[in-house]
Amino acid sequence: MPDQLTKLAYQTLQQGKALFGITHKEVSTRLMGALAPDGAPRTVPVPAEMLNRLRAAMDQLHARDWQEAEEGLYPASLLFDAPWLDWAGRYPLVWLDLPLTWQRRQQRRVRDLPGGVDHSAYPDYYLQNFHHQTDGYLSEHSAALYDLQVELLFNGTAEPMRRRVIAPLRRGLEGFAHRGPSQIRVLDVATGTGRTLRQLRGALPEAQLLGLDLSTAYLRQANRWLGQLPGELPQLVQGNGEAMPFADRSVQAISCVFLMHELPAAARQNVIQECFRLLEPGGVLVLADSIQLADSPQFSTVMENFRRVFHEPYYRDYIGDDIEARLQTAGFTTVQAENHFMTRVWSARRPSEQPQAV
Ligand SMILES: C[S@@+](CC[C@H](N)C(=O)[O-])C[C@H]1O[C@@H](n2cnc3c(N)ncnc32)[C@H](O)[C@@H]1O
Repeated sequence: MPDQLTKLAYQTLQQGKALFGITHKEVSTRLMGALAPDGAPRTVPVPAEMLNRLRAAMDQLHARDWQEAEEGLYPASLLFDAPWLDWAGRYPLVWLDLPLTWQRRQQRRVRDLPGGVDHSAYPDYYLQNFHHQTDGYLSEHSAALYDLQVELLFNGTAEPMRRRVIAPLRRGLEGFAHRGPSQIRVLDVATGTGRTLRQLRGALPEAQLLGLDLSTAYLRQANRWLGQLPGELPQLVQGNGEAMPFADRSVQAISCVFLMHELPAAARQNVIQECFRLLEPGGVLVLADSIQLADSPQFSTVMENFRRVFHEPYYRDYIGDDIEARLQTAGFTTVQAENHFMTRVWSARRPSEQPQAV
């Protein structure tokens, strides 16, 4: 069980990450204002009272993250899991990449993708520079910088927010407890560089893990991160979450983290329906994505600024969307939702089938 010294180390680490992220964003915003003022986004000032609420929500996230490790939902080592050396080496690349990002923003170029990409292999909505990222999701360069950029964006809370899928996912698997742990299959949809799978491997060391994403470059990065772990290597598959290459009822749990806000509404519904199809009756889907206007009106300015700073073409639609209704339309029941700092987590069950009366 984690001790008080470990707790202090965790809190100090998270404070350090937050300070680093805030300083990075402050310096880069000022630089952009000085060097590329035409492209600088016009953000809405965040009032002091909202900043205090944000700090409180962040503290609650860390408290929950610690508590669930203490309860044994996942090993405490996950709280410190980060490729520090790798990130230190890549941090200069984040700075070198920034002027390209500013240029694209200034010139409103949002479909600036690497030459040689076969556009017919991807849905049209995907072929964009989400977050103004160089190459969108379609290069090794983008995959190499992604995790570090997300850490900086969320002030070091990305992993604690991803870990919030573990508790509902484990609860959802209780109905399959009579099976051996290695008979359980868990799929992470839009796994990207596999950070959620890394958390899931810690929590479910014997389960069969699968990850799906449209980007082969991101899957290659995921393979690097996941290959460092003991145990079975998760199976990584390139594909579209709207039509996944897996059999009906073939998995017992599905996670899907930070995908919904990057999809147009119809694709959001298609992915949810695909998840329903893949789940065995009694199985659980856990979605994690940005908070929304209906559940967090107190943070509406933060959501508005996110949309103004990053190229997130479907975010405005997403924050007003009714995900619970979408889950129910697909057939899910017992939908529950909770907020953790900037992330809302839904869990939904595919109902078990009643035996037919004879
Ligand atoms: C914001 S990232 C989130 C990645 C990862 N889940 C995480 O927590 O970092 C969105 C991911 O969704 C993937 N993606 C977007 N549209 C997709 C689709 N229709 N099918 C599968 N993956 C998709 C992208 O390639 C990218 O890796």
